Amino acid sequence: MRRLLLLLLLISPAYKNPHLSEDKRIEDLLARMTLHEKVMQLNQFTLGRNDNVNNIGEVVGKLPAEIGSVIYYAADPVLRNAMQRRAMEESRLGIPLIFGYDDIHGFKTLYQISLGQACSWNPSLVEKMCSYSAREARRSGVDWTFSPMIDVARDPRWGRVAEGYGEDPYVNGVFGAASVRGYQGAGLKSLDAVAACLKHYVGYGASEAGRDYVYTEISRPTLWNVYLFPYKMCLDAGAQSLMSSFNDISGIPGSANHYTLTEVLRDTWGFDGPVVSDWDAVKQLINQGYAANLREASSKALMAGVDMDMMSHGYEEYLEDLVESGEIPVSVVDEAVRRVLRIKFRLGLFDNPYIPEETPEKRFFLPEAMETASQLAAESMVLLKNNGVLPIRNASNIAVIGPLAKNSWDLMGNWKGHTEPEEMDVFLDGIRREFPSAEIKYELGCNVNGEGDFSAALALAERSDVVILCLGEKLNWSGENTSRSSIALPGGQEKLLEEIKATGKPVVVTLTNGRPLELNRIDALADAVLETWQPGVNGASALGGILSGRINPSGKLAITFPWSTGQIPIYYNRHKSARRGTQGVYKDITSDPLYPFGHGLSYTTFEYGDPRCIGTPSIDRPFKVEIEVSNTGKADGYETVLWYISDPYCSVLTRPEKELKYFEKKFLKAGEKATFVFEVDPSRDLGYLDGDGRSFLESGEYHVIVGGRDLKIMI
Ligand code: NOJ
Repeated sequence: MRRLLLLLLLISPAYKNPHLSEDKRIEDLLARMTLHEKVMQLNQFTLGRNDNVNNIGEVVGKLPAEIGSVIYYAADPVLRNAMQRRAMEESRLGIPLIFGYDDIHGFKTLYQISLGQACSWNPSLVEKMCSYSAREARRSGVDWTFSPMIDVARDPRWGRVAEGYGEDPYVNGVFGAASVRGYQGAGLKSLDAVAACLKHYVGYGASEAGRDYVYTEISRPTLWNVYLFPYKMCLDAGAQSLMSSFNDISGIPGSANHYTLTEVLRDTWGFDGPVVSDWDAVKQLINQGYAANLREASSKALMAGVDMDMMSHGYEEYLEDLVESGEIPVSVVDEAVRRVLRIKFRLGLFDNPYIPEETPEKRFFLPEAMETASQLAAESMVLLKNNGVLPIRNASNIAVIGPLAKNSWDLMGNWKGHTEPEEMDVFLDGIRREFPSAEIKYELGCNVNGEGDFSAALALAERSDVVILCLGEKLNWSGENTSRSSIALPGGQEKLLEEIKATGKPVVVTLTNGRPLELNRIDALADAVLETWQPGVNGASALGGILSGRINPSGKLAITFPWSTGQIPIYYNRHKSARRGTQGVYKDITSDPLYPFGHGLSYTTFEYGDPRCIGTPSIDRPFKVEIEVSNTGKADGYETVLWYISDPYCSVLTRPEKELKYFEKKFLKAGEKATFVFEVDPSRDLGYLDGDGRSFLESGEYHVIVGGRDLKIMI
């Protein structure tokens, strides 16, 4: 038997031999491919139900068997295998398809949205979550997830702030890298892993006025220090692919940008995986005025470094002709094909194209996944305000009111994967379970748009000891193509709070939303405000636990909450201003945000000692700074210490007021102390990048800022 197998291997083509190296197999296959077959590998089509309403494009009924990839909207291993069988058996060379999908904050077990995940400051939890999500996805037919999104986002009017990890480049890098490790960690060939795709390369989050798909003005130093920064961290974590962005980057669109796609990504960083365009992004070069027609758009995108065309159908239509007419060299097509084949080989698709046909019960909602969903929800909720009303103790009548109280649909958030509303645990149920001996009554008050008759809700508030008012956004108010000109909640929701507050009862406001909100009026009225984001299947238990005090909240904001929409853009690591103090501030409102980056309350108190440097800081070797933190309150709890640096003077470029370089979260029992240590690598943590991405470090004065303390160091 063994001999027969060996013989078969010897007579079959080298690319089918699993014992040969990836490169040998790729080259062997490439040499056998016709130009048409090569070009077909560079196309991604879609099949089945498309649940992204913004994915506008022609949906092909019957896919050509030679196609490179499909976006796969089903969760059915049988269907996947049937489609794969066509590719394997009906294409001349038997090249497997790679199945892509947006597995964003959960495939079936739905987790907290990415923006909320970052507020947990717990990347290992996010890594775990992504590994469970990968397992569900791969075993349902998906090889490749279009995640993580690591677009630094500083304008909460932009709906896609929900999909990334907030305003800070380092936080995006840390959480993006954690998610890459989670998705890919089991080994790409494993049934428990999918290949990650970093998106949207690059600068998509810099959208003007928070509008989607528009121009972005990004200087080279900002490109390097802010927008490219997290990509490098995630590539170092082993990410296998990228998606090119829709936005025009200072005159050259992201999907035709030779500088970012080739000079940076390939020539500087040496990345060898594929870049897929965003949906229709190649064709959109025409709308952006960068290509006269789809033929030119396809040529520009490929020559810039986009290997695979998602749904523009331009590569399919024009690449062969462009090569045959000598307008683009076949070597460029070959290189793109190599990258596409490489990811397929790495995923083991040539050797194991099919997946086991397991039942949904074996794949979905496994106990460890559900447990991670609960923990992530608990750690990511942020207590924004508390005048002492929380935790709720001894209330016998609790009123639960508001449009998000008994609402499973809007709780899911954008990119809800394959989760159905009935699989979500709604807030009202979580609260009922948490307070079994209290009488809990519910009234809607108003819908998410703020419309409704408040009278029953007000009467209920009158009869209760405390009101939990669940406000928030609709599922489709954040995500792609969901920009808002105001980030306030609808007036009707604020009015409901105002009238409930007038009853004199304490009011706890819970918020469920995919972006920072304008909360100054809500903050003034509410006794407590708890940001839950869009917390996933088990968010209700986490919410209940925080309300009762079973869980001590530990989330901190990974994005600034402006005082009002008019302050946008507002983010902590802004560059220094020419004038200070009372100059350069708004005349009509405060210039401070309502809740700054890093804000988040606990039921206990933490006291910080003075930071100190261990040994003498030096420019050319790592040194340590430490700080002692004590839990001085009565509750056990997590504390996250955020370490910033500040460079007061730089002779090359101006720098931000402060820059986050490290964070660490620890659990401290009441009365316990811990030492937190930041190991400073001078070139990584004190240095900066110039407009060509070259790192430099000047000697002189720097500051380490931690827990509101400032330690001056000289290197
Ligand atoms: C468009 C979105 O911008 C992108 O994030 C997503 O991955 C693709 N559509 C595919 O659904």
